[in-house]
Amino acid sequence: MKLCFIGTGYVGLVSGACFADLGNDVVCVDKDLNKIENLKKGISPIYEPGLEELVKKNYRNGRLKFSTNLKDSVAISNIIFICVGTPTKKKSNATDLSQVYSVAKKIRSYITSKFKIIITKSTVPVTTGDEIEKILSKNKSKKLFSVVSNPEFLREGEAIRDFIYPDRIVIGTSDVKANKILKNLYSPLISKGAKYINTTRRASELIKYASNAFLATKITFINEIANLCEKTNINIEDISIGIGLDKRIGSRFLRPGPGYGGSCFPKDTKSIVKTADKFKINLSLVKSVIKSNQKRSLLLINKVNEIFRGKIKNKNICFLGVTFKANTDDMRESSSLVMIPSLVKKGAKINYYDPTGEKKNFKKIKNVTFSKDIKTALHKSDLVIIHTEWNDFKSINFKSLIKKKHFIIYDLRNIYSPLKMKKSKIKYFGIGR
Ligand code: UDX
Repeated sequence: MKLCFIGTGYVGLVSGACFADLGNDVVCVDKDLNKIENLKKGISPIYEPGLEELVKKNYRNGRLKFSTNLKDSVAISNIIFICVGTPTKKKSNATDLSQVYSVAKKIRSYITSKFKIIITKSTVPVTTGDEIEKILSKNKSKKLFSVVSNPEFLREGEAIRDFIYPDRIVIGTSDVKANKILKNLYSPLISKGAKYINTTRRASELIKYASNAFLATKITFINEIANLCEKTNINIEDISIGIGLDKRIGSRFLRPGPGYGGSCFPKDTKSIVKTADKFKINLSLVKSVIKSNQKRSLLLINKVNEIFRGKIKNKNICFLGVTFKANTDDMRESSSLVMIPSLVKKGAKINYYDPTGEKKNFKKIKNVTFSKDIKTALHKSDLVIIHTEWNDFKSINFKSLIKKKHFIIYDLRNIYSPLKMKKSKIKYFGIGR
C-alpha cells in the first residue's frame, strides 16, 4: 500500500515508521523543512524509545520517505492519514481544528482521478469527519474519496509497542470498500491478536474521547481514594490490587500519582465536555474529574508544607524527574509546572534532575537550577521529591550516594518500599500510604 502521513508529530511519525516497517511504502509530509531535513538524517523531532532506529532502518531501505511536497505525496498515495495537531483553543476549551481543515482543503485540490481514503488519525471531536467530507465534496465526485476515522491510542514512551500490539483497531466508516482495504492494511496486527472493530465514523471519533475521559476518571478516582487512605492509615496499593482484580474494573491505570498530564488527557477531557455542551449534554462527571485533577498539585504542595511544618522558606528541594511521566521528554501539563513555581514562590530553592535534560520551562525562574546527574541534584537537599517514575530512580542508594544523616523523601509515584526506607532510617512519604 502507498501511504501518506500528513504531520510528523507524535502520531504521524510513529504510525508512518511502523507502517513502513510492516512493508508499506510510506511518505511522511510536514511543512517544517528543518524537521524533514533532520528526519532524512535520522534525527527524530520527538523523544520516543526505539523510534530513531525504526526511522533510520526504513529510510535506508527506501520504504520510508520524508517530504515537504504535499501535492506529490498525496498524488502517489492510496491512503492519506491526517495527523496534524488539534490543540485546545487559547481562550476556550474547544478544539482548534484549523490545521485539520486547512489540510483537507489542500487535499481536495490534489485529488484527481484515483480513489483515495482520507483518514483522520488526529484526535477530533464528533462530526469533524462530516465537515471534512463536506470540504472534499466541493467540486469533487464522492466516488473519488472516502473519509474515515481511525483514532490512535499510542502512549508516549510505549508508542511502538502500542502500535504493534494494540488492544483494538477502530475503523469508523460505513463504506464497505474502504473498510475492506483498511482491514487488509491492518491484517499483520490483527493476525497478532489485535481486535478490529468497524463502527460509524462518529462513533469512532467518540470512542477516542470516551476512552481518554474514562482513563482520566480512573486515575482521578484512585488519586482521591489515595487521599482517604492517607487519613485512615491504609495502603492504597492494597486497594488498587483489591479492586483491580475485579475483571469489571481491571487493574491498569490505578496507580495514584501527581495527577494526569500530557498532551492528551487534559486536552481531551476538556474537549469532550465542550462537545457535549454543544449538544446540550452535561458531562458533570468529567467536569469534576478535570477540577479534581487541577487541584491535585496544590494538595501535594500543602503536603510539602506539612512536611516542613510550614517552614518552606530557604529549604532546598530536589525534584527527580519533571516530565509528565517517565520515558518521555514531554513537559506538557506536567504537575511539575505548577508545583515548582509555587514552591519557589513560598521561598524554596529547587534543584532538579531529569534523564531527558534541562527544561526551558524553568530557565527563567529564579532559584530553580538543573543538575546534570542525580548525585549533584541530591546534594544539600532538605527534601527529595520523586516526581516521575523513571527506572533510573528505582534503585538509588541514597545513603551511599550522599553521606548525610537526614534524608526526607516524598515519593509521588510510590516507587520505593516504605519498609526499606524505614530500615535505612529515611523519613519517607508516599501517596496514599
Ligand atoms: C494517553 C493514552 O493512554 C493514549 O491511549 C492516548 O492515545 C494518548 O494519551 P499518554 O498521554 O502518552 O497516553 O500517557 P499515559 O501513559 O496514558 O499517562 C497519562 C497520564 O496519566 C500521565 O500523567 C501518567 O503519569 C498518569 N497516570 C497513568 C497515572 O497517574 N496513573 C496511572 O495509573 C496511569
